[in-house]
Amino acid sequence: MRHKKDPVFPEGFLWGASSAAWQVEGATLEDGRSQSVIDLNSQTKKPFTDNSVASDHYHHFREDVALMKECGFTSYRFSMSWSRIIPDSDRKVNPLGIKFYNDLIDELVAAGITPIVTLYHYDMPCWVDEKYGGWHNRAIIDEYEYYCRVCFENFGDRVKYWLSINEQNMQICYGDWLGVSKGCTDWFRDKWDINHIMNLCHAKAVLACHEMVEGGKIGPVPGYVPIYPKSCRPEDQIAAMNAEELTEKIWNDTYVFGEYSGFVKKYWEENDIHPDIRPGDMELIKSAKIDFFAVNCYRSDVGMAPDDSYVQEIGLNKYGRKGEFVYTNLPGEYALDRNPYVETTDWDWHIDGTCMRYALRYMWDHYHLPMVITEAGFGAHEDLGEDGKIHDQYRIDYLRDYIYNVGLAIEDGVEVFGFNPWSFTDLLSTGNGMAKRYGLVFVNTTDDDPRDYKRYKKDSFDWYSALIRSNGKEWGCDMSDWRNYTKRSEIASDIREKLGKSEL
Ligand code: BG6
Repeated sequence: MRHKKDPVFPEGFLWGASSAAWQVEGATLEDGRSQSVIDLNSQTKKPFTDNSVASDHYHHFREDVALMKECGFTSYRFSMSWSRIIPDSDRKVNPLGIKFYNDLIDELVAAGITPIVTLYHYDMPCWVDEKYGGWHNRAIIDEYEYYCRVCFENFGDRVKYWLSINEQNMQICYGDWLGVSKGCTDWFRDKWDINHIMNLCHAKAVLACHEMVEGGKIGPVPGYVPIYPKSCRPEDQIAAMNAEELTEKIWNDTYVFGEYSGFVKKYWEENDIHPDIRPGDMELIKSAKIDFFAVNCYRSDVGMAPDDSYVQEIGLNKYGRKGEFVYTNLPGEYALDRNPYVETTDWDWHIDGTCMRYALRYMWDHYHLPMVITEAGFGAHEDLGEDGKIHDQYRIDYLRDYIYNVGLAIEDGVEVFGFNPWSFTDLLSTGNGMAKRYGLVFVNTTDDDPRDYKRYKKDSFDWYSALIRSNGKEWGCDMSDWRNYTKRSEIASDIREKLGKSEL
């Protein structure tokens, strides 16, 4: 539908930004925190820095919250570190860990900012891994539930929005990159056991939240990359659907319907995969009713019928040099490809605001649950300019396009209650240290030179602040062309020309 006016964001819409403990806090061995598996994983990503200091948010959190307030935030999505709260297998709660999160939450609440808390964002404590062999052991379910209950008990009076596990789908799809496959010998099959255990952990968190947090709401956080068919060739359409199934839909269906879909069961059968699903498991999963979806959506991809003669696993662009991304080709399932209608970041991520509208409509059509955006963002190589500033017009353009499309989805009838892009300050990327920055606020440190961690507002900070303060009215330019998607396709054909591709 082409809407006649700019979108109207609902009163009380939650405007903020997003982070994760292991990527922003630093202080990994301070005040009783113990090491987590992702800390060790980050040490393997040379030449990039690890997460031992990150953005030093642990020591700058009051200044960071003051900046959020200055920007006009009404929400902040962050995660808690399991190994800061429960540093050892004796299950003793670390009072200094509780104090840190209490102080952060109090600071936010005093600033009028609603906390949205992720319980688990890739950071399993090393003691869980050492004692149980990580995600592969069902004993983790009790440990995770215990940890969640400690969080609900200590923070549930002030935190009403909870997120169970960040991007479970991506952890299964990219197990090696995110350290989840550690200790596995047959990842192709083992990942489905791990996935099932994660589903049980998620379910325990949902049930405990509803039991312990008065007025508490909880949801999962899928990482959603919408897949467009490369052409109207029927085989491309089915391949795009296969890709959506195997990278995200399988997970969302289980969260909502409490059962594994016919698609995934058939996939297991045909690939000789037999996840360890025990009596009572599916009843538990089904009983855990989620309240909303937290959606992470940065980019789209293009799906097409695969070439059955070879296998190509995805090859991530690891250094931010355009063109290094290697697209998946999975015989019998799908292949992915570059979308020539849109530009890319230096890491070859498609820049495509329309994918946000697509994602929200797709999720709404399938599940009819409210949504909050918990991640979207533009990763870039950046440093302070000679004028001591960061002029990140590319990030403003990206955010404008994505947020406007959230608004268009709202106008299309989708229920969305907040937008929290990645990230507020610069923070450690999953694989590129400080070389890939997402923040609205620059943190003065680099991979090889720690500098002084001083905060500098980027141009995107001021642009976003004006938008927030007007509740989504001040875009900084005339948006009528942005509503018109045929006009947008003219813009796309300019891009196509630039790329030198005339026929598609
Ligand atoms: C999301 C993750 O998938 O993508 C974040 O939840 C991550 O933890 C973000 O940082 C961006 O990815 P990257 O690899 O650029 O840091």
